[in-house]
Amino acid sequence: MKMDLKEVQENWNKFGNTDPLWGILAWPEKDENRWQIDEFFATGVAEISEVLEYVEQQAPLRRGRALDFGCGVGRLSQALTAHFERVDGVDISPAMITLAQEYNRYPESCHYHLNDRDDLSLFSPDFDFIYSNITLQHMPPRYSQAYIGEFLRILAPGGILVFQIPSTARRLRNRLTQPLRPTRPFRWLQKIRHGDQPVMDMYGIPKDEVLRLVQTRGGTVLDVQADSSADAMWHSFRYLVTLQ
Ligand SMILES: C[S@@+](CC[C@H](N)C(=O)[O-])C[C@H]1O[C@@H](n2cnc3c(N)ncnc32)[C@H](O)[C@@H]1O
Repeated sequence: MKMDLKEVQENWNKFGNTDPLWGILAWPEKDENRWQIDEFFATGVAEISEVLEYVEQQAPLRRGRALDFGCGVGRLSQALTAHFERVDGVDISPAMITLAQEYNRYPESCHYHLNDRDDLSLFSPDFDFIYSNITLQHMPPRYSQAYIGEFLRILAPGGILVFQIPSTARRLRNRLTQPLRPTRPFRWLQKIRHGDQPVMDMYGIPKDEVLRLVQTRGGTVLDVQADSSADAMWHSFRYLVTLQ
């Protein structure tokens, strides 16, 4: 595993072992394990019905196989099982995958996979629907770019891909410091500030670059919407893509 992907994994494993649900949905009043599990999973049901309603207004959607990339404890994967024959959830954190398996109410149709590679070679081109929310924003862009390319490799022809990723930081100061992020001095400063606590690193890819990347990988962008699921410091977008 590449070094900074290993850091991403260690960081998310810390969330998984300490306050997993807040690591996933960091609502201020829900830290220190204050999420109620039913309430937490209900947010996934609401999100998936909104997303699928949106998709169906734009394009036909087959209901065979769905992928939830960066599934965490399965908040969205579990909700997807109501709409697809088979759901695969994939995550880099062993602690998150262990919890996802414990919370799995549909083991016959919902399957979780640990993947610490910078590709999705565990899957072949078979997915009718791929969804990724609040995940690509937490890894250096060379990885999010690689995974977006992989989404397009494993999408079946006519399949639908929906993913969210921030574009640029709203403040100039953050835009200027962004490229420094995974460097050794930056990590050292973070260690002084946060000690061994997990941190929510944020990264984006400018919208134009995302559009170019999708096109280069053979995808067609059907729609792009401003999105508010990243933190308020970022301009963020949700992309709806198909493969002809
Ligand atoms: C903020 S949580 C969101 C979880 C889920 N998408 C949801 O909305 O409920 C981000 C998740 O992405 C996972 N993640 C981060 N980098 C990843 C990678 N390179 N591959 C797969 N999962 C990753 C983390 O372990 C974590 O579970």
